[in-house]
Amino acid sequence: MRVPFLDLKRMDSELKSALKSKFSEMLDEGVFSGGKEVKSLESKVSTYLSSPFSIACANGTDALELALRALQIGSGDEVIVPAMTWVSTAEAVVMVGAEPIFWDTDANGLLAADWEEAITGKTKAVMPVHLYGKMVDMENLMAKAKKHKLFVIEDGAQSFGSFQKKKAAGTFGDVGCLSFYPTKNLGALGEAGMCLTDSPELNGRIRRLLNHGQKARDEHELVGRNSRIDAIQAGFLAVFMDRFASFQELRKRFAGMYLKELADREELRLPAGILEEDHNAHLFVVQTPKRNELKEFLSKQGVGTAIHYPHSLPEMRGFACAGNFENAGKLSRQGLSLPLNPWMRGEDIVFVCAKIREFFHTSDRSGREVF
Ligand SMILES: Cc1ncc(COP(=O)(O)O)c(C=O)c1O
Repeated sequence: MRVPFLDLKRMDSELKSALKSKFSEMLDEGVFSGGKEVKSLESKVSTYLSSPFSIACANGTDALELALRALQIGSGDEVIVPAMTWVSTAEAVVMVGAEPIFWDTDANGLLAADWEEAITGKTKAVMPVHLYGKMVDMENLMAKAKKHKLFVIEDGAQSFGSFQKKKAAGTFGDVGCLSFYPTKNLGALGEAGMCLTDSPELNGRIRRLLNHGQKARDEHELVGRNSRIDAIQAGFLAVFMDRFASFQELRKRFAGMYLKELADREELRLPAGILEEDHNAHLFVVQTPKRNELKEFLSKQGVGTAIHYPHSLPEMRGFACAGNFENAGKLSRQGLSLPLNPWMRGEDIVFVCAKIREFFHTSDRSGREVF
């Protein structure tokens, strides 16, 4: 038996034929940039997330950069960023000429609640990242940001479908940024992303920035760029959107199976709150001091795993800085993502858990850390 971490070839045949029909329909239509598919995706997302403005763009990294530019954050400004995230969060800050100020995460990888200590006279914004699909406590973060008059840009690249008290991830801050990278819960068959906002003014600025600063054809009001979504991806995303709820059910069911099967493994720290509504079960990240050995063992047994992420940002050459990033560092050394996606079957989860039990049964238990 083999359980890959994620194998998109395993999409079911009904879905594959719906995607093929969509492609064929679009080929006959002949519109490959903008058009009704883009509008329809934006409106589906707006309805699902109760987001007043949903602006599709080329990818999640661009969404972050567009948000920062629309808020006119740039040279001389500081932006607070968690030390553990995908590199895009900090890249976007640097790309607009501002400086990322890294702050440690909590044990689950979310921006630590004491982030206010990072504020200086230059701080313009804070970027909470809903890492692994689990939301930062947004009510609390928004209250602090308001107190200090900071903009909030939510990196919701991993949290499509997470809600806090029925309010969607990405709809709390000034701008929320989504990624539709193929591995995400709502993933395209290529690159795509989106900005969410409730501000008509930011909606207008972001739309212009991503389309060469144009208000209308040949009316270049701002210096922008091309970050338009590929219309074919918008069409595919609409197909995935129609099935999103059922895929989420499967993710939650498999996450629940993992929790049950691994509950007695005191050597493992299991993901907190993964069955709650504020977690979309994007990644199932366990933590163990024996992470590397477990990863290797599982790989030999045919089980694919991944590490999100093996280096905290302050450890990277481009972002190197000193500070206390203990939790982020620990996650980079101990975090292991187990396979969790709608293309799996229940027996895959049972197999992975049996192999994990086998590993801890046979491995040298001395010096183990008990969570
Ligand atoms: C936390 C986070 N931020 C930003 C991004 C960037 O999204 P994209 O790959 O669509 O540019 C990702 C995607 O992996 C992500 O996980």
